[in-house]
Amino acid sequence: MVVELDWENLGFSYHKLPYRYVSHFKDGKWDEGELTENATLTISESSPALHYGQQAFEGLKAYRTKDGSIQLFRPDKNAERLQNTADRLLMPQVPTDKFVEACKAVVRANHEYVPPYGTGGTLYIRPLLIGVGNVIGVHPADEYIFTVFAMPVGSYFKGGLTPTNFIVSKDFDRAAPYGTGAAKVGGNYAASLLPGKKAKAAGFSDVIYLDPATHSKIEEVGAANFFGITADNKFVTPLSPSILPSITKYSLLELAETRLGMKAIEGDVPIDQLDRFVEAGACGTAAVISPIGGIQYQDKLHVFYSETEVGPVTRRLYDELVGIQFGDVEAPEGWVVKID
Ligand code: PLP
Ligand code: COI
Repeated sequence: MVVELDWENLGFSYHKLPYRYVSHFKDGKWDEGELTENATLTISESSPALHYGQQAFEGLKAYRTKDGSIQLFRPDKNAERLQNTADRLLMPQVPTDKFVEACKAVVRANHEYVPPYGTGGTLYIRPLLIGVGNVIGVHPADEYIFTVFAMPVGSYFKGGLTPTNFIVSKDFDRAAPYGTGAAKVGGNYAASLLPGKKAKAAGFSDVIYLDPATHSKIEEVGAANFFGITADNKFVTPLSPSILPSITKYSLLELAETRLGMKAIEGDVPIDQLDRFVEAGACGTAAVISPIGGIQYQDKLHVFYSETEVGPVTRRLYDELVGIQFGDVEAPEGWVVKID
């Protein structure tokens, strides 16, 4: 079968593919799991995932390289993060091998949907872990479902590598200081829906959240981490226990230092010191690197490099990262995993 899609203009929306992977955890162990054509889950009405948010998800991508092969970017890191999230929510860990093999199996089974090289499209993979079964008190579930599904996607933020503006949230936090901000759980995203809607209605791409304890330092974007570039060539990104540890961000910290010769720093990013940055961006699996044109804070729009042009360092970081992901630039050891 030859799949015909408008590969250059996919956007970021659900697309039902032929196959997904599903595995059940029961009596203290995972089953083998299998690929299925059934895109629906049937679960108890009292499942803790539905009532108490005992669920977690991940996001990673499969990339079509120039020679037509397909590769994943650091899937072991997503497995590790899902394990950390599972620990926080008292869910069973999905072993790394099981996680990576499930992702590979789903990509293989749906390989016609991995966008062609050069279109900018990728196959977005969404692993999901949910607590199910008959529980009504606030307890962890005894049974769990781990599923992995996928869909072809394009840019998450409008225009991809085009600067857009973001707005600092005055009235809402996405996570509490000792809450679940560092875990990839649905509740964090539920909390971000209303501020996200208000930001978009006001013409911004997304919200910049401040640290929930003092509201004086940048935490992250609703669906990505934040970074800034200083005039003296430093790559700076917030360090906080309540932000999602972005795999893209940790990759950029390493690439900035080893490939671009920059000093890479995780530290405080006070919201009243935006002048120290000559460029800024949002980074993540879905966001890739989305340049931040300006940040609206209180009644002022602080513009970094330009509202319309991508800064030179942001572009170099993008070329390095995306070059590795699509197989055009040599990857650090272990960063890409081929689908055989
Ligand atoms: N922060 C949030 C809130 C996110 O949803 C994401 C997306 O996964 C990220 C950061 C970026 O993380 P990663 O680079 O691992 O995709
Ligand atoms: C990702 O980048 O994978 C995300 O999870 C961001 C968003 C789509 C929730």
